[in-house]
Amino acid sequence: MAWRPVPPPEDDEQAVRENLESWDAMAHMHAQGSGAGFYRIEQWLAGESKLGPWEIEEIGPVEGKSLLHLQCHIGTDSLSWAREGARVTGLDFSPNAIEEARRFAGILGFDDARFVVSSVSDAVDALEGERFDIIYTGRGALCWLPDLKEWARVCAALLRPGGTLYLEESTPTVNIMDSEEGPEGPRLVPKYDLFEEGPISEIGEGSYADPDWPGERITHCWEYRYDTIINALIEGGFRMDLLNERDELFYAPWPEFFEHSRPNYWRLRDGNVPMPLSFTLKATRL
Ligand SMILES: C[S@@+](CC[C@H](N)C(=O)[O-])C[C@H]1O[C@@H](n2cnc3c(N)ncnc32)[C@H](O)[C@@H]1O
Repeated sequence: MAWRPVPPPEDDEQAVRENLESWDAMAHMHAQGSGAGFYRIEQWLAGESKLGPWEIEEIGPVEGKSLLHLQCHIGTDSLSWAREGARVTGLDFSPNAIEEARRFAGILGFDDARFVVSSVSDAVDALEGERFDIIYTGRGALCWLPDLKEWARVCAALLRPGGTLYLEESTPTVNIMDSEEGPEGPRLVPKYDLFEEGPISEIGEGSYADPDWPGERITHCWEYRYDTIINALIEGGFRMDLLNERDELFYAPWPEFFEHSRPNYWRLRDGNVPMPLSFTLKATRL
């Protein structure tokens, strides 16, 4: 059944708690169940990277650098950075996701990769004030955070001065859209108001990694505009270094409109007006 609205959460605490239940329920399925095909676990274990080539180029050399992956999920992106030579710490609030990340680190022999269970809000305490050279995050991460000003403060506290924050996310253009049935078949229409401050609260089944997965879950997500993200970073003590948009995306929100552009990325099928689908952002902690 299609995703449908539920009443908004009473507070951010309820939203984060229900999101944690949702993510924790999906972690094993993504790592070793019906979602493993989307995550290309087999190919990734055999050596394929989960990173976009532009990510590796834009972030610059990571060899020997300490890299913190915030909201690391099952560790596939984090350990791809370990393959590039970074000393990796992954952090996520889902115990099941961290269990999978540790399992993968063991399989791949990254004994010094560390994975920590914590919310982003509690990350400074969980990491005991450690400061990193690089924070990497994104690909469906920011939308789960109720307060981007707090997130920017946490990132600033976890980076050494001069350190790099780098992320990839879907664009606001994508985030306002949804697919609906029109007279000539499915069409993309603007649906979500990005000037609305509260979360989009919905209940439904399936995952972006397996739309047929039967686990019903409630989610609360905040779709952010560029100004909210960039102003939070500037206020948090960052200098913006780059913002690049691309016509490729790290998932296929409406499969009927998308086709693979390369492993782990999708683009709109021919015949659709091209639009910016994802962006990368790099900022320096002052
Ligand atoms: C789509 S994943 C992003 C990681 C990566 N792109 C991937 O797909 O493997 C989003 C992750 O954010 C985590 N998450 C959501 N809200 C969080 C919070 N408040 N604190 C820490 N982790 C959170 C979830 O557990 C999930 O693993």
